[in-house]
Amino acid sequence: MDHFAYRDNLLYAEDVSVTDIAADHHTPLYIYSRATLERHWHAFNDALGDHPHLVCYAVKANSNLGVLSVLAKLGSGFDIVSAGELARVIEAGGDPGKVVFSGVGKKAAEIRYALEQNILCFNVESEPELHRINEVAGQLGKVAPISLRINPDVDANTHPYISTGLKANKFGIPRERAVATYELAQSLPHLDVLGMDCHIGSQLTTIGPFVDALERLLELIDVLAKKDIVIRHLDLGGGLGVTYNQESPPHPKEYAAAMAEKMAGRENLKLILEPGRAIAANAGILVTEVEFIKEGEEKHFAIVDAAMNDLLRPALYSAWQNIVRVDIRTDAPSRTYDVVGPVCETGDFLGKDRELAVAAGDLLAVRSAGAYGFVMASNYNSRCRPAEIMVDGSNVIVVRERENQKELWKGEHKLT
Ligand code: LLP
Repeated sequence: MDHFAYRDNLLYAEDVSVTDIAADHHTPLYIYSRATLERHWHAFNDALGDHPHLVCYAVKANSNLGVLSVLAKLGSGFDIVSAGELARVIEAGGDPGKVVFSGVGKKAAEIRYALEQNILCFNVESEPELHRINEVAGQLGKVAPISLRINPDVDANTHPYISTGLKANKFGIPRERAVATYELAQSLPHLDVLGMDCHIGSQLTTIGPFVDALERLLELIDVLAKKDIVIRHLDLGGGLGVTYNQESPPHPKEYAAAMAEKMAGRENLKLILEPGRAIAANAGILVTEVEFIKEGEEKHFAIVDAAMNDLLRPALYSAWQNIVRVDIRTDAPSRTYDVVGPVCETGDFLGKDRELAVAAGDLLAVRSAGAYGFVMASNYNSRCRPAEIMVDGSNVIVVRERENQKELWKGEHKLT
């Protein structure tokens, strides 16, 4: 459930009319709801109950400082994939001691920075990475806490671009090589073997693959225990899906409770989850204004002021996100539209074949845009990225100002 709902036929973000926000801050515009973010985080955290656990929000889903600060105040941990994301977490008031560092290509400088900040754990994806972390830790006179990302080889049944737990993916260490890699890690002097992790994919809509992965990793943890390699935390990654259209993914409570249940009797094994989308997606919308209605030969087009550079998911993954009117009072006829942006690419659309009653000047909201929305925005076509707003009850807070033209060419140089 989220806190975007209609009151008297007008879409509201918590207690504020989206029309009013758009009038003050213009479009395109991202709007987030604090209460929704908090609600989703609590759904995970509460369902894990008494089992020792840490919910590490996946920063890549939405790394705005406003969003991170809301979660930091709840005591959230964070899953990061770059030094830049760690810097954001710290700037937002997050605790580096609750940060896990994922990703296949950590640079030495990033490892050094993370060690200096005393993060909770490095989620390591390969043997060369183990050696690199060992070396950097040695230079700093430190011992690096590490976890190995094991590829459980389960099929997450999701879009091939966001499926990560199969053998053919670049991620993780194959199960067959896990024991040998743990032995290697154990033998390196500047590493402390702390955990095991996995991440099998994103936008999963059933619990089955998560349970399969968990069971496979628990088996491996037992094998390691017999070899005196004691795993102290198990990090199951993120991946729980949300409802964009007809999907009916398990509720975060149901998912987290199922995971905690499988961990029963293993109170010394802390459970870490890294949800991104399930916390942020439905806590955000992208608001856009219809510029023109264009009659094509075969199609009707609603040309809006948001484009693929603002929200890439439809163009990149053919992702379907709901598009709704902000003000549902209208005389406009209902017709089937392709909702397209001003960017010069055929792939620049927000939605195709949508039944909408719209006219030029109307506001539309793209739902479920809080995750992998602004973070994937670009300046393609020299377009300034949108402003981001956080609504908190009846308060409207600009958490990122709209970019301006000069910022776009900062650092560029003309020839004389
Ligand atoms: N942990 C790791 C190691 C990950 O790679 C990811 C996402 C997450 C956690 C968070 O997954 P989530 O709970 O959000 O599913 N841009 C794509 C999604 C890419 C996800 C990549 N990894 C999209 O817009 O659908």
